[in-house]
Amino acid sequence: MKRSVYWIFLLHIMLFVHGNKAGASQPYRTAYHFQPLKNWMNGPMYYKGVYHLFYQYNPYAAVWGNISWAHSVSYNLIDWMHLDNAINPTEPYDIGGCWSGSATILPGVGKPVILYTGDNFENHQVQNLAVPKNISDPLLREWVKSGRNPLMTPVNGIDPKMYRDPTTAWQGSDKIWRVIIGSQINGHGTAILYRSKDFVSWTRSQYPLHSSNRTGMWECPDFYPVSSRGKNGLDPSFNSRDTKHVLKASFGDHDYYVIGNYDSKMDYYTADVDFMDSNVQLRYDYGLFYASKSFYDSDKKRRILWGWVTEADNINKGWSGIQSIPRTILLDKTGKQLVQWPIKELEKLREKEVSLQNKELKGGTVFKIAGVKASQADIEVSFKLPNLEVQIELMDTKSVDPQQLWVVGPFGLLVLASEDLTEQTAIFFRIFKVDDKFAVLMCSDQSRSSQKRDVGKNIFGALLVVDPTQKISLRTLIDHSIVESFGGEGKACITARVYPELAIDKKIPPLCI
Ligand SMILES: *[C@@H]1O[C@H](CO)[C@@H](O)[C@H](O)[C@H]1NC(C)=O
Ligand SMILES: *[C@@H]1O[C@H](CO)[C@@H](O)[C@H](O)[C@H]1NC(C)=O
Ligand SMILES: *[C@@H]1O[C@H](CO)[C@@H](O)[C@H](O)[C@H]1NC(C)=O
Repeated sequence: MKRSVYWIFLLHIMLFVHGNKAGASQPYRTAYHFQPLKNWMNGPMYYKGVYHLFYQYNPYAAVWGNISWAHSVSYNLIDWMHLDNAINPTEPYDIGGCWSGSATILPGVGKPVILYTGDNFENHQVQNLAVPKNISDPLLREWVKSGRNPLMTPVNGIDPKMYRDPTTAWQGSDKIWRVIIGSQINGHGTAILYRSKDFVSWTRSQYPLHSSNRTGMWECPDFYPVSSRGKNGLDPSFNSRDTKHVLKASFGDHDYYVIGNYDSKMDYYTADVDFMDSNVQLRYDYGLFYASKSFYDSDKKRRILWGWVTEADNINKGWSGIQSIPRTILLDKTGKQLVQWPIKELEKLREKEVSLQNKELKGGTVFKIAGVKASQADIEVSFKLPNLEVQIELMDTKSVDPQQLWVVGPFGLLVLASEDLTEQTAIFFRIFKVDDKFAVLMCSDQSRSSQKRDVGKNIFGALLVVDPTQKISLRTLIDHSIVESFGGEGKACITARVYPELAIDKKIPPLCI
């Protein structure tokens, strides 16, 4: 490995003091990430000044079962109020559980409705509708199920065990509603398409919106437009010449997406690069992040993505899983990938700031940043590597001779580290160069994040498509047991769960580089 000098171009550390009630008995409970009082998670919408988060919830235990739609509301996406469940398993068509689904705001009346999957009395999956009981209630506390449920059932070759998670619906230029349901047909991941004029009578389209013979079952599909020009998110029904459409599917423990073009007249979707068609698969996050949902925030004109971050331990803490920080999501200017960034509301939580500029780092050394003691922080750092001359062309790793590899790094952050560094979580970069071509690798290394034996110790990695002759930026959000990192201004995200024993709360975790 080549020893080098790196420069910290810019470093800001912002500490949070938000609602930290973790305490010694619950050191892993997050403070500014959404977490239910107990149990499981998962679904979101914005309606008349209020953000609603509906999530999969077992009222009885922190294991999967008795799944209901729990309901929390917020005015700022950070501070949440827990309400009574919105939907409970009470009817023959959902008695086995009210599973994932999505809200759609019907235009004109501006009324929100929910489509969700019910596990029926035969353990078959069916799709149901629920509407607010009292539209004048600003918090939409009570929801009533349609007398016409179930609206969609697994007939004509659909496997009744593989038919779930309706998306937010959208309208084509013909004003007809469309929705997709995740499925597997003949072993292939499939987005079954339905159409409706009135949101109640749904007709299955002869062709799925999309499918892949290279993946299995698609869970929690998501389908939405992104602008190839503007900085705004788009309403689900928006489509124009400058619009691309993202299709996301959850399978194999990850949320994969493709970018393509959607013709709503023909209901024809073509992906620019299809699922599993290239060496590098596009994922929202290269760590723990699954069953995500996005929604359009019509007030702030942005699309917000939210993922479910599972636990990586078996510790009985009384809850399981949390939500990622809500992220705005936009098409990158290359048009080849998305970029994600924590919502700006998060910045209001910043309390104390530590800054450092133009600090020289020697290769192979660790630099402790003085004055920082926190298990909750928002860190922004940029690295600049002097004398790095490379052609800006992405390396084709298949043709690389390892003997010719030239490596820079690792350089990055150590967080939630104990004084002696026996516990540490490293978020770092490495640059590989051969001839005139390069690759930038971003990693989140949990292998030393805890003294405990039975916790996840993965090393997550992602290729970052950035120019290493320019600054390489990293933003990392730390919140007790979650380390959420955004490399290259949101081009690659890695979310990890960590369970340190030494580097908790008052035991002063220094932040080092
Ligand atoms: C589901 O709820 C019932 C009570 O209604 C309870 O007896 C059962 O243990 C629960 N199952 C799970 C998996 O939580
Ligand atoms: C509907 O909600 C409004 C606002 O909270 C309330 O004033 C009204 O009494 C509610 N109507 C019914 C029928 O509950
Ligand atoms: C998979 O689908 C692609 C196109 O969608 C097709 O070219 C290919 O032959 C299919 N492969 C198999 C094994 O069915």
